[in-house]
Amino acid sequence: MPIQHPLTLLGGLSPAEFMQRYWQRKPLLVRQAIPDFKPLVSRASLFAMAADSEVESRLVVKPFKVQHGPFARNKLPKLSQNDWTLLVQGVDLHDDKVADLMHQFRFVPDARLDDLMISFATEGGGVGPHFDSYDVFLLQAHGQRKWSIGKQKDLSLVEGVDLKVLANFEPSHEYVLNPGDMLYLPPRYAHDGIAMGECMTYSIGFRSPAQNDLARELLMRLSDETENLDALLYQDPRQVAVDLPGLIPKALQSFAQDALDKALKDPQALARVLGEFLTEPKANVWFENCNGLKLPKQLQLDRRSRMMYDGTHIFLNGESWRASGPDARLMRCLANQRALTKAQIQGASKDAKELLLNWYLSGWLKANET
Ligand code: SIN
Ligand code: CO
Repeated sequence: MPIQHPLTLLGGLSPAEFMQRYWQRKPLLVRQAIPDFKPLVSRASLFAMAADSEVESRLVVKPFKVQHGPFARNKLPKLSQNDWTLLVQGVDLHDDKVADLMHQFRFVPDARLDDLMISFATEGGGVGPHFDSYDVFLLQAHGQRKWSIGKQKDLSLVEGVDLKVLANFEPSHEYVLNPGDMLYLPPRYAHDGIAMGECMTYSIGFRSPAQNDLARELLMRLSDETENLDALLYQDPRQVAVDLPGLIPKALQSFAQDALDKALKDPQALARVLGEFLTEPKANVWFENCNGLKLPKQLQLDRRSRMMYDGTHIFLNGESWRASGPDARLMRCLANQRALTKAQIQGASKDAKELLLNWYLSGWLKANET
């Protein structure tokens, strides 16, 4: 993506300018970010997704009762009833057009992009004034929604409701969004979106790991991989008799230190488990094996595939490969463009072709008809 070119999506800012001036800093309202925008998913298809047990969905009825899906169509409130919202998470996993829309935001690293959620609401519907921990682009897809936003100091919450709703929200700005309009909000910026008649809003959401969660996850993966660590029991043949039984032995502290040192010894190991963790498919994703016998002429990543790389590794759907030279260049192209051309595939080495074929047979890559 040319990061210096002005984008209509960002109101004429280039991705570079947006990231420097707004990202994680301040809100940005873009009128007609996508001119003449038409919803990519109909109300009926969204309701059908909400009925699917593989799809994560929530129903919020004011004053803030929350239920978790799946919802059979007749379990949703009537369309003539005001004040309810259906939120369907991860729609990008289920629809190519929605995945393509989300990919317009790939000026932010894939490691940070999370999913596209669609909310449907009837008149007055919304999830109440709140703040999120992550950045979000709120794209109005259908009907109108009034957004009130503000830097909220008083973070006290309404008691006795299922959601985190700010008790004393004091917005500083109000905007009515029409289809194609978009509002970017940085983390922890308070907001309240209220449907003005039936409406649909798309939220392009980001993920950002908490450092303690990341440490726990990576240490677990590293210790799982460190050979024989599970077989090595603490032994203390030189332990002397103690008159202070509550005191932890120094040798046991060194043993623990040694375990961590071993797990972190290989400088590449941390980068490897990080990439494997970041590309792990979402919990409800299953790939179907493909029965094709040979590699198609052109390839693209399945919309659910997560592919990234670092200086030494290629990561795809939670697995890693060490790669260098032309093979690494080719796989990095695939990660960045999410597709390979006929010429790129024809020019690939035998090893690279074999790997591509394996990924294709696993359903991670698809034939690209375009
Ligand atoms: C919604 O689309 O109704 C809620 C999105 C949000 O406020 O984060
Ligand atoms: Co929000």
